[in-house]
Amino acid sequence: MTRLLLAIETSCDETAAAVLDDSLAVRSSVVASQVDLHAAFGGVVPELASRAHVETITPVVAGALAEAGVSGRDLDAVAVTRGPGLVGALLVGMATAKALALAWGVPLVGVNHLEGHLASVYLADDDVPFPHVALLVSGGHCMLTRATAPGRYALLGETVDDSIGEAYDKVARFLGLGYPGGPVLDRMAGSGEDVLGFPRPMLADGYVFSFSGLKTAVVNQVRADPGSSQADVAASFVASCMDVLCAKLRRALEEFGDPAVAIVGGVAASPVLRARARALADEYGARLLIPPPALATDNAAMIGVAGWHALAAEGPSPPGFGPEPDLRLRFAEDAP
Ligand code: KG4
Ligand code: ZN
Repeated sequence: MTRLLLAIETSCDETAAAVLDDSLAVRSSVVASQVDLHAAFGGVVPELASRAHVETITPVVAGALAEAGVSGRDLDAVAVTRGPGLVGALLVGMATAKALALAWGVPLVGVNHLEGHLASVYLADDDVPFPHVALLVSGGHCMLTRATAPGRYALLGETVDDSIGEAYDKVARFLGLGYPGGPVLDRMAGSGEDVLGFPRPMLADGYVFSFSGLKTAVVNQVRADPGSSQADVAASFVASCMDVLCAKLRRALEEFGDPAVAIVGGVAASPVLRARARALADEYGARLLIPPPALATDNAAMIGVAGWHALAAEGPSPPGFGPEPDLRLRFAEDAP
């Protein structure tokens, strides 16, 4: 008989709930964004985020159940993000998930948000080949991993300073383009030219990334020449980011010759990155695993996929487990 799982995600500024069956089909996915709430401050204000999650979580869960056409009695498990993220925001999702699991008498499993993003490849494609190279590019992270088997990851490299989404958001804020910066910068880049010669940081350094110096280069350029076209600044910044990401992906495709390459996390919603990744995958004859934009940015469907995997691999989480704001991804010891 088909089993159903409710997944909840509240690690940052999206309140999300989804229902998935045990074949990983998404029966519903509801995301309530707090972007408008935080936009005036140019970034996420943790206390406001927690309060907004408290107000929104009940209607969001009810919406996910209604959209799936199920009620609490039909659910067989609950999954919830336990970290990394804002502690107050995580607490709201976890308290809700614990209460529902207890009331329904079903198992509860805590999920690492990063494993959720990596598991979103199953929402991109029915056929996920292993091993595959997986680039995780979000507001909080920029890391290149290699998935050797379901749920088993080796770290190839990560950023030594800012994540790429953070760099997008900081540059956009500096240019007065609002929050979040990714979508706006991406759009603006389309009408400019890569003429400002920004650096391609750490291009030759294996799989390590750095975006803090690039952000400073943008600031210095705009201060030195306040009249420079914003579209050209955006195009030059985006081109530099894309060149770096694609150079690392190319290196991994060359080194490992894997049959697939995955791009996950909020920045994977970028049409520019999607197009560049598609061209690269085609060049190497690799399958491109990239979730649709709505499942690349934070959502609960990806937490549901990782939740099913975690339940199968390890069973329910121990009672009394709490939020882990600094939770890291667990890597397999047999790193290449
Ligand atoms: O995965 P995500 O929703 O949240 C985290 O786990 O951090 O990623 C959010 C990040 C933000 O920095 C946002 O600017 C970026 O993803 N982003 C984009 C686009 N949409 C969202 N970056 C570039 N192009 C986009 N279209
Ligand atoms: Zn995320």
